[in-house]
Amino acid sequence: MAGQIKPVLILNGPNLNMLGKRQPEIYGRETLADVEAACRTEAQRLGLEVECFQSNHEGALVDRIQQARETNAAIVINAGAYTHTSIAILDALNAAELPVIEVHLSNIHRREPFRHHSYVSQVAIGMIAGLGSQGYLFALQALARRLIPS
Ligand code: DQA
Repeated sequence: MAGQIKPVLILNGPNLNMLGKRQPEIYGRETLADVEAACRTEAQRLGLEVECFQSNHEGALVDRIQQARETNAAIVINAGAYTHTSIAILDALNAAELPVIEVHLSNIHRREPFRHHSYVSQVAIGMIAGLGSQGYLFALQALARRLIPS
């Protein structure tokens, strides 16, 4: 039941505030507000709550992940380009000791080789890529199974 379980943190990294405008042929036409609204609706359907946070700044993402250790039950993260570069975000996710699901709108394995490696995958229980904004909803479904006692 919502209320007993801490909210799931939906964390988006750099340039994801540009969704809808940014390369729509790759990332789709929905805005980040649309994606976050869809997450809230799906969470409510599942009996979960979500908190959404986006930043273009690596340190701000690290700060929010550190906070999540106390305030959130799990993390759904699309770290954007930091996926491929940030040991700091990996370290913060490991320190959070929470279930993490990695999401990418695009299929990073069909794209440039520098997108094929993910630091986030080192800590994620699973990764969803290439299914657009639906990936966030599938991540919430997977977390509902883990977090809500049957
Ligand atoms: C992305 C893929 C990354 O390679 C890219 O840097 C992004 C978005 C995705 O959602 O497909 O910013 O994480």
